[in-house]
Amino acid sequence: MRQVPHIASYGLVRDVTPKIVQEFDQSSRLVQLVFTLAVFHCGEHKEPSPQEPRMTQTASAIAPHTFSVTPELEDLGLIDGCDHTQRVLLTPGPLTTAPEVRAAAGVDWGSWDRDFVALTARVRAGLLEAGGVPTGLACVPMQGSGTFSVEAAVRTFVPANGGLVVGVNGAYGERMARLAQQAGLRVHVVEERWNRPIDPERLARVLRVRRGFTHVGLIHCETSTGLLNPLRTTAEAVHGAGGKLIVDAMSTFGALEVMADHPAIDAVVAASGKCLEGLPGVGFVLSHPEVLTEAQGRCDSLSLDLVDQYEYMELSGQWRYTPPTHVVAALAVALDHHRQEGGRAARLARYQANSTALTEAAAQLNLLPYLPQSVQAPIIHTYYAPRGNGWSFSRFYDLVRRRGFILYPGKLTEEETFRVGCIGRVTAHTMRQAAQAIGQALASMGLAATNEMN
Ligand SMILES: Cc1ncc(COP(=O)(O)O)c(C=O)c1O
Repeated sequence: MRQVPHIASYGLVRDVTPKIVQEFDQSSRLVQLVFTLAVFHCGEHKEPSPQEPRMTQTASAIAPHTFSVTPELEDLGLIDGCDHTQRVLLTPGPLTTAPEVRAAAGVDWGSWDRDFVALTARVRAGLLEAGGVPTGLACVPMQGSGTFSVEAAVRTFVPANGGLVVGVNGAYGERMARLAQQAGLRVHVVEERWNRPIDPERLARVLRVRRGFTHVGLIHCETSTGLLNPLRTTAEAVHGAGGKLIVDAMSTFGALEVMADHPAIDAVVAASGKCLEGLPGVGFVLSHPEVLTEAQGRCDSLSLDLVDQYEYMELSGQWRYTPPTHVVAALAVALDHHRQEGGRAARLARYQANSTALTEAAAQLNLLPYLPQSVQAPIIHTYYAPRGNGWSFSRFYDLVRRRGFILYPGKLTEEETFRVGCIGRVTAHTMRQAAQAIGQALASMGLAATNEMN
């Protein structure tokens, strides 16, 4: 039986808010009919089984669900013509999430309520565990998308009389340099081509020879291409030069090792909607409590002051300003899934399998990868657009979209490329199906070498 994610989440929402759904059922038969027709158009309607997880409103009752990647993802056929709830996002956040994660956002929480305070504490502890540092470090969540947390870390940790050396080999490195400049900090950019990793020695040399530079900013995986920068050797080089490191681990946290407890690392920054497979809307920073205490008073922004957020949370268990309650609740379930899957190592193994399946399928389609395999992270791949007059990214995007998959445009300005993400609640099987859709789309544009996948 083909199960459709849409109906699976409907089943869960039903359990979360029976009253609303009852009213919906009674008052809107037409909507119900359209809904049912949509489901039958895409696959068989399956009533939620008694084994399917039930969500309730208390923090302690967000039960651990048995994590399985197979039910709807492995059976997902090509779903041409279905509405957006049926599509698989192969984009590095927002990305494809589990129905239980989405359903957890269907509950309203009082931000001061003791259940939400408990949920916040649980999420902070869960993030430390997911980062491989269950004790000793502090986790400071921050409202907003990932950039807000990167900006908060730069403004909180780099002192006004210090400076930031930023390794730039992609769009997110450029963004970090820009937000540091905008904060009025002294910034030195170590630039590299976008298909080459940053040399740690070049970063360390600036710390040694240029006065006033205290920190280095590194993008762990440059999501703009999929390139993995060398974190361990950079941390060691920065340590040797007496500096501190701020790591943008946005698209690696939860899958790759981020070394948050390394003595040279002041901050590891990430967010809910990437490898943790939560919904977008919460960022967070892992740091040593002493480093946070030392940084007190440095931040020139009220809302981005991580020390203020940390101290308030430690004292009250609450967020300083309105928390994204629904996103936090979804993140709690996503962290449960992460643990049940086997933690960081298991998640990495799945993403690695996804990445390998994509690499193999892309080779069969004669798609040329932008990055050499040696620097390719199992997070997102960039491919050159096939040669030929018929190329148009928007047409290609639409053709793949009609087959049920959402891709990303490339971020390179000088080359025509597109990107395919390997993260989210997807499997190697999904990647092969996506490649099949890509092959078919290219064939119908008259560009494909082949549209048959083995
Ligand atoms: C490496 C990296 N840094 C930072 C960000 C933050 O971007 P946003 O604020 O859009 O979440 C992202 C998002 O994809 C990212 O991949």
